[in-house]
Amino acid sequence: MYRNSTCGELKLADENKIVTLAGWVSKIRKMGGMTFIDLRDRYGITQLSFNQEVNPELCEQANKLGREWVIMVTGTVKERSSKNSNIPTGDIEIIVAELTVLNASQTPPFTIETETDGGDELRMKYRYLDLRRNVVRQNLELRHRMAFETRRYLDDRAFLEVETPVLIGSTPEGARDFIVPSRMNQGEFYALPQSPQLFKQLLMVSGFDRYFQIVKCFRDEDLRADRQPEFTQIDCEMSFVEQEDVLTTFEGLTKHLFKTIKGLEIPDFPRMSYADAMKQYGSDKPDIRFEMKFVELKDLTVGRDFVVFDSAEYVAGICAEGCAVYTRKQLDELTEFVKRPQIGAKGLIYVRYNEDGTLKSSVDKFYSEEDLKLWAERCNAKPGDLILILAGETEKTQKQLCELRLEMGTRLGLRDKNNYKCLWVIDFPLLEKDEELNRFFAKHHPFTSPKPEDIPLLDSDPGAVRANAYDLVINGVEIGGGSIRIHNSDLQKKMFEVLGFTPERAQEQFGFLMNAFKYGAPPHGGIAFGLDRFVSIFAGLDSIRDCIAFPKNNAGRDMMIDAPSRVEQEQLDELGIMLKPVKE
Ligand code: AMO
Repeated sequence: MYRNSTCGELKLADENKIVTLAGWVSKIRKMGGMTFIDLRDRYGITQLSFNQEVNPELCEQANKLGREWVIMVTGTVKERSSKNSNIPTGDIEIIVAELTVLNASQTPPFTIETETDGGDELRMKYRYLDLRRNVVRQNLELRHRMAFETRRYLDDRAFLEVETPVLIGSTPEGARDFIVPSRMNQGEFYALPQSPQLFKQLLMVSGFDRYFQIVKCFRDEDLRADRQPEFTQIDCEMSFVEQEDVLTTFEGLTKHLFKTIKGLEIPDFPRMSYADAMKQYGSDKPDIRFEMKFVELKDLTVGRDFVVFDSAEYVAGICAEGCAVYTRKQLDELTEFVKRPQIGAKGLIYVRYNEDGTLKSSVDKFYSEEDLKLWAERCNAKPGDLILILAGETEKTQKQLCELRLEMGTRLGLRDKNNYKCLWVIDFPLLEKDEELNRFFAKHHPFTSPKPEDIPLLDSDPGAVRANAYDLVINGVEIGGGSIRIHNSDLQKKMFEVLGFTPERAQEQFGFLMNAFKYGAPPHGGIAFGLDRFVSIFAGLDSIRDCIAFPKNNAGRDMMIDAPSRVEQEQLDELGIMLKPVKE
C-alpha cells in the first residue's frame, strides 16, 4: 500500500492516527536538530517532521532527499507548534517513523511554486512539471468541473452527446483549414473540422432533436491570447426551435455554471443589437461592466475651421468620470496609447470639465467655452469629468475609441474580474462585404438564416440583411456564437449564390447538405461556446493557454514535444508528397 491518506486532508481531529502518505518533496527546511519536509500531491501539502535526536538515521536519510523526489512515509499525526493558517493541513504535521524513496528526481529547471522563477518558454517545455503547480492544476480542475456540469445540465434536458468525425472535408467558419494528406487517396486531403457545424445540422435531419458535443476544433489562424489552433467547443444544436428557445436554454446553461461552480446568481442577460453595440461601444463584444458609451459630436463641431473635425466622417467622445484632474503627462500617455500602430489614431482631443465649472480643451483655438458646454451636455459630463474625443473614418474611429474606452475602464478600475456581466448581442448582419475583393462573405457561416422579414433585401441590398444570429459575451469576451439555420434547400441555394459560389462549386462542397435538406430538414438552430474562453473567464486568466493542459505557443508550436516537425522522406513518398526545397 502506497498511501491511506492524501496530503490535503489531515486535520487536528486526526491527531495520533498513524498514516501513510506518498508524494513529491516540495521543500526541505533544516532548523537546528529538526528537518521539515513539505510533501505535495494533487490534494495539498502536508508537513513531515524528522528529529535528529529521536531518530538520527531517519533524519540523515531525510536530509539527503532532493526537491521533487517521490517518497512514501509512515508516521503519526501530531499538532504543530507553529501553525500555518494558509493551508488546510496547517495545524498538523507527521512525525515520520518510516521513509521510502520511490524515485529520485533531477533538480527541476524551475521552482514548482505558485510564484515560480520559470519563464514562459521553460514552463511550456517542461509543461508536465508546470502542471504540478497548484495554480495551473486548479485551472484544469475548474475546466473539468465546468465540462461535467455542462454535461449534467444538457443531459437533464434530453441533449444527446454524439461524436462527429475529425477527418472531414472543409467546414467554412472563416479561418484556414488544417489539412491531412490521405495515403489511400493520393493527392487528396482531409480537413480537420473548424467546427462540427455540418454534422450537427445533419443530425437534426436525422431526427436527433437535441445534440451536444464537447469537441476539439481546429483553425489555422493567427494566434492571440484568446485563440489556440486547437480549442474546445461546447457545441449544440436543437430542432423545432426559434432564436428565443436557443437563447433561453443557453442562458440557462450559463447561469447553471455560475451557480454551481462559483455560487453566483446572475440576473437575466440584457440583449443588445449588433447595430447598437457598434454605435455605443464600437465593438460586437462590448464590455458592459462599465458605461462610458460613445457620444457622437460631429454636428456640434462643424463650422469652426477645425479641419480635423470638419473633414472627419465621424467625431465621437467618451466621458471619463472624475478625470478632469488628469495631468499633462497622463493625457500625453493616453495620446501615445491611441497613436500606437496597433490602434492607429492620429491624435486625441480632450475637454477638461473643471470642478469650478470652467471648460478647457486641447482645441481652445477653435472652440469657445459655449461650444464645449454643448459637447459636455451631450456627453452628460459634470464638473470633474474629462471628455476624450477621436475623429476620422467611422468604422476605424469606432474601433480606436473602443480601445481607448477599455483602457480608461482599466485605468479607473472598472473592469473587476470578479464582476461578471453577461450580454446577448443579437441581429448580426448576415453578410460582410470585402471591399477589396468586392464580394460578400457570410458574417457567421453560410448556413445562418436571414431574418424572414429581411429576405427580400437579399437581391436589392444584401449588406442590410440581418441574420437570426447571436453571440454570448461575458465581460467583453465572445464566449459563444450561433444562429437559426436555413432549412430550406432553395433558400440555401440562394445564399450560396449571394456568396458568389457557382452552382457547381456549391454542389461539390455542400451537395450532401443540400441533398439532405431535400429529405425533410426540420427547422433548427444552435450555438457553440468556446470552453477554453469560458474557463478562462471563470478563472480570471489573461490567456486561454493557462487552462489548457498542453497548449501551443504563439507560433503554433508545442514546445514540449517539439511539434510540428519534419517527417521522413519515406512517409512523404507513401503520401505522394513532394516538398519544395525550403529556402534558408
Ligand atoms: P464560432 O466560430 O463563433 O461559431 O465559434 C464558437 C466559439 O468558439 C470559440 N473560438 C475559439 N476559442 C479558442 N481559440 C479559437 N481559435 C477559437 N475560435 C472560436 C469562441 C467562439 O465564440 N459552428 C459555429 C457555432 C454555431 O453556429 O452553432 C461556430 O463555430 O468562444
